[in-house]
Amino acid sequence: MSLIAISGAKSGIGAATAAMLRASGHDIIGIDIGGADIAADLSTAAGRAHAVAAVLDRSGGTLDGLVLSAGLGPTVKPHVNIVAVNYFGAVAMLDGLRGALQRGVAPAAVVVSSVSSVQVTWEANPIGRALEAGDEAQVAGVLAAAGDRAGQLAYAGSKNALTVAVRRRVVDWGKLGVRLNTVAPGAVETPLLQAGLADPDYGPAISRFVAPIGRRARPDEIASVIKFLLGQGASCVHGTQVYVDGGVDALTRPETF
Ligand SMILES: NC(=O)c1ccc[n+]([C@@H]2O[C@H](COP(=O)([O-])OP(=O)(O)OC[C@H]3O[C@@H](n4cnc5c(N)ncnc54)[C@H](O)[C@@H]3O)[C@@H](O)[C@H]2O)c1
Repeated sequence: MSLIAISGAKSGIGAATAAMLRASGHDIIGIDIGGADIAADLSTAAGRAHAVAAVLDRSGGTLDGLVLSAGLGPTVKPHVNIVAVNYFGAVAMLDGLRGALQRGVAPAAVVVSSVSSVQVTWEANPIGRALEAGDEAQVAGVLAAAGDRAGQLAYAGSKNALTVAVRRRVVDWGKLGVRLNTVAPGAVETPLLQAGLADPDYGPAISRFVAPIGRRARPDEIASVIKFLLGQGASCVHGTQVYVDGGVDALTRPETF
């Protein structure tokens, strides 16, 4: 049995992961904006600091696993909130809980990115450098100038930068003995996807697009991959992005891997 903290534990992929890990006998500390063990708003610096402090307090300073699933979809406004939760919220939790993981048993972290992370390359990511530099004002300026594209830019740009942030930590975390990976889901049947389907701008395109396996994923199909990445079966998997997308990544860029 081990102790695993999960952000976004109230809904969707985070809730499915919490349920699956609990059923396997693990203790879970859930973090969400409400309705979880720890209530924290990861869109603000104060909320992130509270989340880290509360997890350290509740865990006694030692964690065996961390899953970062809290996130907002491209339809959310203001668009700066998307990057505030998806990028800054996740990176603050990673860095704030690294020491607790180092003290854990066979520790590992999994960050929920997205197949959208490869819709833009790092070289062409208009907000990548500003995110990496922690410059929220510059990110806000780029998004304000992006017009109708701002939501998708905020989502894909923040997920691209998040996957890069995870991969940049592979040496430091490796030295500490903490494995760190991302999963990249395609469309998953959750409230976040439902909001996209209900949106007049995004809905038709999401409805039309069908993954090569012919359907969308269920949240438990992402949770089972997260569980694998946390466990000893993945003891040599570090710095990898695992696509759980029904073949979308291979469909869109078969020669790039
Ligand atoms: N559903 C999909 O199609 C899909 C595809 C690729 C990636 N993802 C990613 O999966 C992750 C989970 O999304 P989901 O589909 O399960 O959506 P969801 O809406 O069901 O769950 C997201 C959770 O994040 C929490 N959250 C949002 N803002 C927060 C904040 N400010 N502070 C704390 N918690 C906050 C929500 O309360 C919710 O419980 C997200 O990072 C999302 O980007 C989802």
